[in-house]
Amino acid sequence: MGSTGSAGGGRASRVLRLLLLFVLALAAVEYLFGSILDASPLRTYLNSDKTQLLTSNRGATLNVIKPPSVNTTNAVPVTKKQNMAVTHYNQTMATKVISEPPQVSQTSILLTRLMETLNNETTDMTSSNKNDSSSLPLCELPADLGPIKANKTDMDLATIEKKFPEVQFGGRYSPPNCTARHKVAIIVPFRDRQQHLAVFVNHMHPFLMKQQIEYGIFIVEQEGEKPFNRAKLMNVGYKESQRLEPNFTCFIFHDIDLLPTDTRNVYSCTTQPRHLSAAVDVFRYKLPYKTLFGGVSAMTNEQLRKVNGYSNKYWGWGGEDDDMADRLKINNYHIARYPMSIARYEMLTHKKQRPNPKRYQLLSQSKSFVKDGLSNLDYKVKQIINYHLYTHILANIDEHS
Ligand SMILES: *[C@@H]1O[C@H](CO)[C@@H](O)[C@H](O)[C@H]1NC(C)=O
Ligand SMILES: *[C@@H]1O[C@H](CO)[C@@H](O)[C@H](O)[C@H]1NC(C)=O
Ligand SMILES: *[C@@H]1O[C@H](CO)[C@@H](O)[C@H](O)[C@H]1NC(C)=O
Ligand SMILES: *[C@@H]1O[C@H](CO)[C@@H](O)[C@H](O)[C@H]1NC(C)=O
Ligand SMILES: *[C@@H]1O[C@H](CO)[C@@H](O)[C@H](O)[C@H]1NC(C)=O
Ligand SMILES: *[C@@H]1O[C@H](CO)[C@@H](O)[C@H](O)[C@H]1NC(C)=O
Ligand SMILES: *[C@@H]1O[C@H](CO)[C@@H](O)[C@H](O)[C@H]1NC(C)=O
Repeated sequence: MGSTGSAGGGRASRVLRLLLLFVLALAAVEYLFGSILDASPLRTYLNSDKTQLLTSNRGATLNVIKPPSVNTTNAVPVTKKQNMAVTHYNQTMATKVISEPPQVSQTSILLTRLMETLNNETTDMTSSNKNDSSSLPLCELPADLGPIKANKTDMDLATIEKKFPEVQFGGRYSPPNCTARHKVAIIVPFRDRQQHLAVFVNHMHPFLMKQQIEYGIFIVEQEGEKPFNRAKLMNVGYKESQRLEPNFTCFIFHDIDLLPTDTRNVYSCTTQPRHLSAAVDVFRYKLPYKTLFGGVSAMTNEQLRKVNGYSNKYWGWGGEDDDMADRLKINNYHIARYPMSIARYEMLTHKKQRPNPKRYQLLSQSKSFVKDGLSNLDYKVKQIINYHLYTHILANIDEHS
């Protein structure tokens, strides 16, 4: 395997050369077009004072998550270009994702090229370090799955971050030694539950890693003054996670206050939509009613598309999951569950939310799922930040639908 070794060496020196070239070119560009560069995301990356950036972008919002450590190397707030131009950086540093093309100047074309080249090289390097994922065997479930304890003591994110170096920024993970069978987006509707966030990610990462799945955790926070709309936030989480990472095939909608306590409860999707949180401690591990679909549930891309996602109409607590159960029924799905001995959860304590007084009325209305859901979803992304242990999506969903 000497040839592999020398190829690796050649590649490394190529990267070094490119790096040098990149820095030189950058200096030249900076010298010539300094003022143009001011507006470029690269500038943000190179020079940003993170606290300043964050506070200035967050000033207007009340319920923004404030994690202890934000690393600008990996987390850059969204530029507010029409609210939708999302720029994010991940650990490879040179990767840039922009959903709408910004005004293109020659400088930025040059920069994009340079960054692309550099990125091509770095990804090359990482894939040669890691075994080519396509050649890795499919992951098998480990033999030692079973009941686990939930640690529900208060903790802070800064300490937890150190515990999971294998998790990539944005709360992403894929098994290093095998090809995952499932690519799962964990979508967590969020508002005012800062104290649960650390406990949740601290529990979920080891739980999911153990199951050898590829996953990302998306915390979807509602901005604005209207009552909490869990279902609409889940639609937003689905849309945005698809946009950020088109390869997710399975979507698990997850309340932040539920912690699974048996690793045999595999976080994957099945041919039927699956209700995962069947046995919750506060309901004495009994299923309250047969069509319950709230708490934690899993659906594939195809299932979600077929039922047009969740309804957007449920403002305030309750009703939206029963609405989904109706949608499933109309589309000839049935709700699948694991045995009650496996689908076990513990709930974190919190103040009871005020139920939506109109929830029964909404449920009993004759309704067309075709017109209300993903098809008429309307929202504005305010900010997307890749933190170490999760991707934070802040969205305003007050408008229209
Ligand atoms: C940011 O990340 C770099 C490299 O990962 C690390 O050396 C540095 O300590 C981090 N800064 C903070 C504030 O966490
Ligand atoms: C960085 O983002 C790009 C594009 O989203 C992705 O292909 C790549 O795998 C990411 N790398 C890491 C280390 O997360
Ligand atoms: C980087 O790789 C992509 C896809 O492999 C290719 O289309 C692109 O031309 C490459 N860019 C450079 C500068 O080599
Ligand atoms: C790559 O795979 C081979 C055989 O499958 C194994 O011997 C080797 O240790 C792996 N390398 C890494 C870096 O995982
Ligand atoms: C719970 O997690 C915290 C923070 O990681 C840790 O300090 C504490 O020892 C843990 N408690 C138990 C019972 O594992
Ligand atoms: C992957 O393989 C390496 C080397 O065999 C091992 O040390 C490591 O624990 C494995 N990781 C996982 C998650 O199984
Ligand atoms: C998405 O999946 C395809 C096919 O499985 C693969 O070729 C591609 O590299 C994946 N993209 C990302 C960003 O993981």
